[in-house]
Amino acid sequence: MMIITKKNTTLLSSSLLLLMMIVTQTQPMIMSLHTNSRWIVNDRGDRVKLACVNWPSHLEPVLAEGLNKRPFDAIAKEIVEMGFNCVRLTWPLYLATNDSISSLTVQQSFRNLGLSDSLTGIAGNNPSIINLSLIQAFQWVVRKLGENNLMVILDNHISVPGWCCSGSDGDGFFGDKYFNPEQWLEGLAKMATLFNNTQNVVGMSLRNELRGHGQDVTTWYKYMQQGAERVHAANPHVLTILSGLNFDNDLSFLGSRPVSLTYNGKLVFELHWYKFSDGNAWAYGNPNRVCRNVVNRLKSRALFLLSQGWPLFVSEFGIDETGSNENDNRYSKCLFGLMAKLDLDWAVWGLQGSYYLRQGKADVDEPFGVLSFDWSGVRNQTFLQRLQAIQHPLQGTSIYDAAYQRTRSPN
Ligand SMILES: *[C@@H]1O[C@H](CO)[C@@H](O)[C@H](O)[C@H]1NC(C)=O
Ligand SMILES: *[C@@H]1O[C@H](CO)[C@@H](O)[C@H](O)[C@H]1NC(C)=O
Ligand SMILES: *[C@@H]1O[C@H](CO)[C@@H](O)[C@H](O)[C@H]1NC(C)=O
Ligand SMILES: *[C@@H]1O[C@H](CO)[C@@H](O)[C@H](O)[C@H]1NC(C)=O
Repeated sequence: MMIITKKNTTLLSSSLLLLMMIVTQTQPMIMSLHTNSRWIVNDRGDRVKLACVNWPSHLEPVLAEGLNKRPFDAIAKEIVEMGFNCVRLTWPLYLATNDSISSLTVQQSFRNLGLSDSLTGIAGNNPSIINLSLIQAFQWVVRKLGENNLMVILDNHISVPGWCCSGSDGDGFFGDKYFNPEQWLEGLAKMATLFNNTQNVVGMSLRNELRGHGQDVTTWYKYMQQGAERVHAANPHVLTILSGLNFDNDLSFLGSRPVSLTYNGKLVFELHWYKFSDGNAWAYGNPNRVCRNVVNRLKSRALFLLSQGWPLFVSEFGIDETGSNENDNRYSKCLFGLMAKLDLDWAVWGLQGSYYLRQGKADVDEPFGVLSFDWSGVRNQTFLQRLQAIQHPLQGTSIYDAAYQRTRSPN
């Protein structure tokens, strides 16, 4: 276990102490995580609040975005400086199960897609990865994040590399054209094994945004339980994180039937919450009233899990950071209020200022990106400040404080 001990601060002046506190806060303590009631805690029982940023690596080139724009270490250091303690790193199933993809070198992958400008950028900013295979490059990314003291949650985002997610992409639910459950179980086990000795890999999201016509609760339990068991058997160190139905908007079915696993203390649920998660709700009516209605719906869809003693990880949310979308602005006020009140664990979508290739277009801007189009800095300081306000834990500092936690849990 990697543990960063606090240094003796008694002789330091208060300004130095403040500086140290900032340093300590931006350097999370990486160790094995488990759950205690609705909190994620470390081996000492202290709460570790996940304040993550999503970093996509599941699109066609199968490489963490942005490595054409800036050296990896500079990006990782900026993630830490912005106050995040972890990265939700996405991967397509084929990276683990399909050798014709995972064995391509970075160079071959970008050449095959005709992305010569991106390749030139990668050769300039991150030359050491050009000849790595895609799976080696993925391991390199995870290792470098660890060197920067960032926890990693591996998120199986989709099967076939590409933009996600639509209800009709054939990649949404067990049994869909590109979503073979047995292949998925194999891929999860492989990925869990690959990182079974990697301390900073603290969790695995088993599958992003289950969706589409094939959805069915019975099948959800069957495969999610099997998937969690496979991951745990290969890598008992990681949290196993389960997504709900309908693009991870709906975990309501858990109210009547809990997940049944052979192990304890490693199960977390994830929820996605965007403006469009509630259709057109934000376009009409008094925003406070809309917020109340939306939060009431969220209670029955997911928030009830907290009072049942399960951690809930809001693993995707985000807005158009130009501020030009009024509905996004209304939604985000409600979101930040709730996130603070319930002191939830979270991962914002996303880090990426741009994509190498998105839906057929090269070098595409991401208005939801925390970083700017050229990855050189923060896209919108106002938005970052709002995120920073919810990065630190407000509750649940000790597992010995269970009664306190219960009184503070939402209903
Ligand atoms: C592996 O990936 C290639 C390229 O996307 C695809 O044509 C092939 O069907 C995949 N194989 C399997 C077994 O999924
Ligand atoms: C990558 O491999 C090619 C040969 O295939 C070699 O010419 C080149 O120097 C290598 N680049 C790096 C950065 O290792
Ligand atoms: C951990 O992974 C290595 C290969 O990376 C493998 O040899 C070893 O058996 C794995 N351990 C477990 C418990 O799966
Ligand atoms: C940043 O966000 C704020 C609040 O939504 C908005 O008013 C401002 O215009 C945005 N700034 C930029 C540079 O996009």
